[in-house]
Amino acid sequence: MAETKVIVTGGAGFIGSHITEKLIKEGYDVHVIDNLSTGSKNKVNPKAKFYKIDITDLKKIAPIFKGASFVFHLAALPRVQLSIDDPIKTHQTNVNGTLNVLMAAKEAKVKRVIYSASSSAYGDQKKLPLKENMQGKPLSPYGFQKYSGEHYCRIFSSVFGLETVSLRYFNVYGKGMSEKGSYLPVFVIFLKQKKEGKALTIIGDGKQKRSFTNVNDVVNANILAAKSAKVGKGEVINICADKAYSINEVAKLISENIINLPERNGEIKMSLGSNALAKKLINWKPQTGLKEGLAELKEFYI
Ligand SMILES: NC(=O)c1ccc[n+]([C@@H]2O[C@H](COP(=O)([O-])OP(=O)(O)OC[C@H]3O[C@@H](n4cnc5c(N)ncnc54)[C@H](O)[C@@H]3O)[C@@H](O)[C@H]2O)c1
Repeated sequence: MAETKVIVTGGAGFIGSHITEKLIKEGYDVHVIDNLSTGSKNKVNPKAKFYKIDITDLKKIAPIFKGASFVFHLAALPRVQLSIDDPIKTHQTNVNGTLNVLMAAKEAKVKRVIYSASSSAYGDQKKLPLKENMQGKPLSPYGFQKYSGEHYCRIFSSVFGLETVSLRYFNVYGKGMSEKGSYLPVFVIFLKQKKEGKALTIIGDGKQKRSFTNVNDVVNANILAAKSAKVGKGEVINICADKAYSINEVAKLISENIINLPERNGEIKMSLGSNALAKKLINWKPQTGLKEGLAELKEFYI
């Protein structure tokens, strides 16, 4: 039997390269589309077919979708601050690019699109934990752009019959997190500072909490979402750890030498998600706690 063809957009990025790795191990015929704007080709398993193409170019991406069964759509410019600095540029990839991926998937009659959504769609909510039935109130262009991608997915399911599912990730961490560019994730900043013997810099009072989620758990969620018979109509599902940690707590797990800097706009105070729906619809539970995941990261970065 021929291998099942799958597409990973953004497969040269942090999470996409982990998904590619796992799909290759499971015997899929993996095709990666990435423009290498933040990703790196070195991260992509050489057994995957690689196309250096921009998802904003529908004509170029469409032929690659022919014969594909699943599309894991991760390509994005995923930084809150970048979306504030340049809303139009990020919109082009995060919204227009997502629309192109859905169009190409629809035309090629792929079985299902698994969309990488973001907890930033919630914004600051009064009630916690964050549940999927809450009205989204994104605080940044990035949050809104990712949120609109979810709506496009749902609409492509209802209007065109294309199966879709949106996985809302909460602060993903793990090996291979982006180390370049001026918008680095907090873990990378802390680990770099520790390595260089500098104080860890916390933006604001450090009391803001996040449901830090291990990348291996996010990979599993993607595979389960592709296979589950209970999704395909544009469902939105939180993919988050069981417990939220404050930035202060994370920093203290790395170093005692800490300084606080002024707060930034568009920053969410508390991001604690419920993962009950993920258990129900795709039978997913996080397997790696923060302390265990961080210990592995320290070995890798320091
Ligand atoms: N990392 C997190 O904590 C997190 C949280 C919530 C959601 N997400 C979502 O997960 C996905 C992957 O995030 P990541 O952390 O791996 O980011 P990343 O920056 O490491 O990966 C994104 C990849 O997309 C590629 N890309 C960007 N613009 C492109 C374009 N126009 N055409 C083709 N490729 C393009 C980049 O080169 C990169 O390889 C994103 O959709 C992001 O919004 C991530």
